[in-house]
Amino acid sequence: MEHTLIGKDLSIQKIRELIQMASDTALNVLITGETGTGKDVVAHMLHQASGRNNNNFIKVNCAAIPSTLLESELFGYEKGAFTGAVQFKPGKFELASEGVIFLDEIGDMPFILQTKLLEVLQSGEFARLGGTRDIKVDSWVIAATNHDLLNDMKLGLFREDLFYRLNIIKIEIPPLRERANDIPILSKYFIRKYRQDFNLDKHPDLNGDLEDLFKLYHWPGNVRELASVILRLMVGDEPELIKSELLNNMETDGYTLPMEFMQISPDKQESVDERSSSPETLIPLKDLKAEATRFIEKKTIMHALNMTGWNKTEAARLLKISYKTLFYKMANAGIEKN
Ligand SMILES: Nc1ncnc2c1ncn2[C@@H]1O[C@H](COP(=O)(O)OP(=O)(O)OP(=O)(O)O)[C@@H](O)[C@H]1O
Ligand SMILES: [Mg+2]
Repeated sequence: MEHTLIGKDLSIQKIRELIQMASDTALNVLITGETGTGKDVVAHMLHQASGRNNNNFIKVNCAAIPSTLLESELFGYEKGAFTGAVQFKPGKFELASEGVIFLDEIGDMPFILQTKLLEVLQSGEFARLGGTRDIKVDSWVIAATNHDLLNDMKLGLFREDLFYRLNIIKIEIPPLRERANDIPILSKYFIRKYRQDFNLDKHPDLNGDLEDLFKLYHWPGNVRELASVILRLMVGDEPELIKSELLNNMETDGYTLPMEFMQISPDKQESVDERSSSPETLIPLKDLKAEATRFIEKKTIMHALNMTGWNKTEAARLLKISYKTLFYKMANAGIEKN
């Protein structure tokens, strides 16, 4: 699979340069950035650009593996190390030797294990669980997190000495809202990609309203969220629905709604214009929220009904509402089986 970082923003150009530089050194890299900013992409690009690209790229998600298992995942175990260890198993560090070990979500690594990891990074050696022989490996350590590690250190959740060990080369990926000028090229890129990947021929119209909103929206899910919005438009989701969802998210997350989006449909235009200079501008906003909720509810209910073959009892269970509520909501939204 090809890994590319699309973007013309200066921050992205700098990251591309850093990747080139870092891949010659095999010095520890720490990649930081909010969820969906491309940390996995950067880690793969580092591997690809390095002389290690014919060797393994081993990813360990430190948040997804229960802490009791993480140690044996990382360092392996000898036969008989614990009940059930019927034969030896190499750890990820060993498998990544001469290649890359990508410690994803390092901010979630339990404190005790941070200590062991630090020791391993310092000595370059470790023993498998239940073993006595030291194993020497040469794995390039790339770590990533969406935590604010400086803050985690203040709170005593992350070891400072480990932080400095990992943070030799630092790659900080800014959130998408801070490089909004890249949204059009990223959008085009995903349209092209989804056309190929899924054989979709719809070309969503990203001009006008939607383009403006994309620039103002805060993208809490960053590039991943943009990609999913594009895909939804390509499979036929109504732009109006998407718009109201994005506006809803903005409101929920405490962002000020842009004036030009304070109404949802043209027939509300008049009331917005009339009130736009008075504090009552918030009234259309309320309407908007209700309307957006109705939109989303209707879609979700339809989805549940289709999934259950229009079995209302099943659908109500899926939606975690009572049969009566479902019945009422269906009537209200005018949902009928064809
Ligand atoms: N600049 C970019 N150009 C092209 N695709 C990108 C870019 N940034 C992210 N993506 C795509 O967005 C999605 C999310 O990226 P990725 O998985 O690397 O994010 P992440 O920072 O690791 O998120 P998380 O913290 O949730 O693990 C992926 O499908 C990735 O290919
Ligand atoms: Mg990731």
